[in-house]
Amino acid sequence: WAGRLRRLDTVVSTQEEAKLLAEKGVPEGTAVMAEEQTGGRGTRGRRWHSPKGKGIWMSVVLRPAIPLQSTPQLTLLAGVAVCSAIRKLTGVEAGIKWPNDLLARGRKLCGILLESNVGPGGLQYAIAGIGISANLSEEDYPAELRNNATSLLIEGGMPVDREQLAAEVLRELDYHYKLYMDQGLKPIARLWEEQSVTLGRRIGLKTPQGWLEGTAVGLGEDGGLLLRADNGSVTSVCSGEITLI
Ligand code: BTN
Repeated sequence: WAGRLRRLDTVVSTQEEAKLLAEKGVPEGTAVMAEEQTGGRGTRGRRWHSPKGKGIWMSVVLRPAIPLQSTPQLTLLAGVAVCSAIRKLTGVEAGIKWPNDLLARGRKLCGILLESNVGPGGLQYAIAGIGISANLSEEDYPAELRNNATSLLIEGGMPVDREQLAAEVLRELDYHYKLYMDQGLKPIARLWEEQSVTLGRRIGLKTPQGWLEGTAVGLGEDGGLLLRADNGSVTSVCSGEITLI
């Protein structure tokens, strides 16, 4: 996939660039990476801080033949791939917070935004957006993000070669994507559990039924987070934003 990486300078969001390419019919694995995003997007309509030359701001086109309800599993797969790439290349102890955040020392290092395009035949394509805060220093963050965000530079104490890291991310994505397409979620789920900072932790979650609290005990067959409540009952949580307590 590394040969399919297209580089751009300043864009609003690489998600939009990747969507345009996907609509034109580029093969899966085509990726775009920008130096800077002026309207970088996070999950839940949030903004993603993407200053020039400081990070990996990248979106990858995927065309998996999977049922629509399996699409959230692509987020888990991407998380495992990016976490592996970061650990291999930088030695920074990144861990995955369910479903899509990579943390170091409890602070956010990377986010993944999976967007899908659905047509009459089901999933047409998905865009995996990957934002890795590579070479941001404390001063590069606006004050309101400083306490909850970190970077590979801050954690590892030295700048990261972004070219190398982007190539490694694509290699790992390629490997884990093939694994997923060949063997399903199971091997990805085991790798996810190994790299997770959520498992074994007490977590809270806002649901339409109210606040839910329990211990994260694993990933279910569909990729939902298994939460054991104090009365011993286990619920699978499929979406939402969890708080590590
Ligand atoms: C999150 O909220 O945790 C997800 C952040 C995803 C950011 C990446 S950066 C590349 C791609 N382009 C965007 O606008 N967002 C994603």
